[in-house]
Amino acid sequence: MKVLAILYNGFKAAQQEPRLLGTVENKLGLDKWLASRGHELVVSSSKDGPDSDFQKHITDAEVLITTPFHPGYLTRDIMDKAKNLKICITAGVGSDHVDLNAAVEHKIQVLEVSGSNVTSVAEHVVMSILNLVRNFVPAHEMIERGDWQVSDIARNAFDLEGKVVGTIGAGRIGYRVLQRLAPFDCKELLYYDYAPLPANAVSNLKVRRVEDLDQFVSECDVVTVNCPLHEGTRGLVNEELLSKFKPGAWLVNTARGAICDAEAVKKALESGQLSGYAGDVWNVQPAPKSHPWRTMKNPLGGGNGMTPHYSGTTLDAQARYASGTKSILENYLDGKPQEPQNVIVGMGKYETKAYGQR
Ligand code: NAI
Repeated sequence: MKVLAILYNGFKAAQQEPRLLGTVENKLGLDKWLASRGHELVVSSSKDGPDSDFQKHITDAEVLITTPFHPGYLTRDIMDKAKNLKICITAGVGSDHVDLNAAVEHKIQVLEVSGSNVTSVAEHVVMSILNLVRNFVPAHEMIERGDWQVSDIARNAFDLEGKVVGTIGAGRIGYRVLQRLAPFDCKELLYYDYAPLPANAVSNLKVRRVEDLDQFVSECDVVTVNCPLHEGTRGLVNEELLSKFKPGAWLVNTARGAICDAEAVKKALESGQLSGYAGDVWNVQPAPKSHPWRTMKNPLGGGNGMTPHYSGTTLDAQARYASGTKSILENYLDGKPQEPQNVIVGMGKYETKAYGQR
């Protein structure tokens, strides 16, 4: 059996740090184990275009492992050519790089390691909110430049205390973000999600659900996006929705880049409609050098908290998603049932309710 894994190159870092498991070099720790069971493992970072290793090897692979940090985009066309493909495993959380509707039709199962990096992302979200609200990045850059002008930073620095913070999507990550924000004494914590939080979660955090999205964004000083990318969320945060935000709000998106319209976000930041935008996910990954989100700024020259996609790939997270990937693969090889929370698409149908209302 051929297992194809599309991972990112770790180069020198991966040789020096074996805990960088999600790299081409360290192969999620699967190589010896798969070889001992008589299976072939092909690992590559080459993923785009007809001559890529991804498109070459997908034609006879039975298992595809790929990661949201360096996604091999499994489109319907490529699926048509993948005659042996039975199961796609996402080493991490978020399987939008697979055309899930096509996977349902092709009876290809899609699983992810649910929960493996949700704390890692929630911590990154809280860090990003604080970075933006407190105007941290321009303050640090000023110090590196050798300058010292407190008023240039303080004129756009605020406390998180007393602000309204809301999450679009209140699943594993969204809920953990709200939990972590509770001690900051925000004015209110809000959520927008078609799935209501359980009553005890609501009363523990004193969080309020807002069912209308326009209303929700108009009440928030900070919006954080924590829902999957699917046909109902692609481009959800567009020019029209951004115009409904509170003027000068902050927006943090660590969910998926394509949930936000790239040009509309840039314009909103440059006009001051947004005071800041932060996140680690991009509509194309790796993001081209010319991507507007790399350098966009608010009218005061700050408000950009972008990083490469790493919030969910801390070394702690890599240990969890590598071992979760192995468990999924082991269940598959041994014909054992999978953990239900990991199954996005089962045999010919969606098993999750998180990828849109159907
Ligand atoms: P989850 O499945 O626990 O929660 C997702 C929530 O979003 C669910 O409650 C669902 O009902 C809600 N939702 C779906 N569509 C919605 C819509 N149209 N409007 C409002 N809410 C909607 O997923 P989890 O673990 O919280 O992860 C969420 C997403 O975060 C992943 O799908 C992935 O895209 C992203 N992620 C990013 C990482 C990173 O490294 N930046 C790492 C892990 C996840």
